[in-house]
Amino acid sequence: MTKTPASAPDQPFSSGSVETGSPAVAPLRLCESSSLEDRGKAFVFDVQLYGDPARAFVLRFDGQVVAYLNRCAHVPTEMDWQHGEFMDGDKAFILCSIHGAAYQPETGRCVAGPCGRGRLMPLSVFEREGAVYWQPDRDIRPAPAASSGAPV
Ligand code: FES
Repeated sequence: MTKTPASAPDQPFSSGSVETGSPAVAPLRLCESSSLEDRGKAFVFDVQLYGDPARAFVLRFDGQVVAYLNRCAHVPTEMDWQHGEFMDGDKAFILCSIHGAAYQPETGRCVAGPCGRGRLMPLSVFEREGAVYWQPDRDIRPAPAASSGAPV
């Protein structure tokens, strides 16, 4: 989901503590804004979902950046038909390549196919000074090596 922070991140990638006792993680720079063509190929990156390896993706749709866990709501598997290719032929929906579930890019809600009333799990992303950033949360955190994202 798109998010504009009240204050821009200005700290390097680091851990800290928050009131919940969970370590806080600074936003991670994912890619250049210019690399995300509208309704085009997504940037795919490694994450940890509840401590387990997973992947997520960010793409641009109608000018906004949106990001989701790369995991279908029908069967928990990755959805891209080629690396980073999530959009359907009309570039209107995020499409799962396995059984054809279609998701609304702005919300991640299932709109057709076997995903029922499911939805994709969103990640908080925003743009600043020509780059796309991801703000990790307690559930979806950076992969240990942070191999695909560069520190802020
Ligand atoms: S796994 Fe995505 S539609 Fe079945």
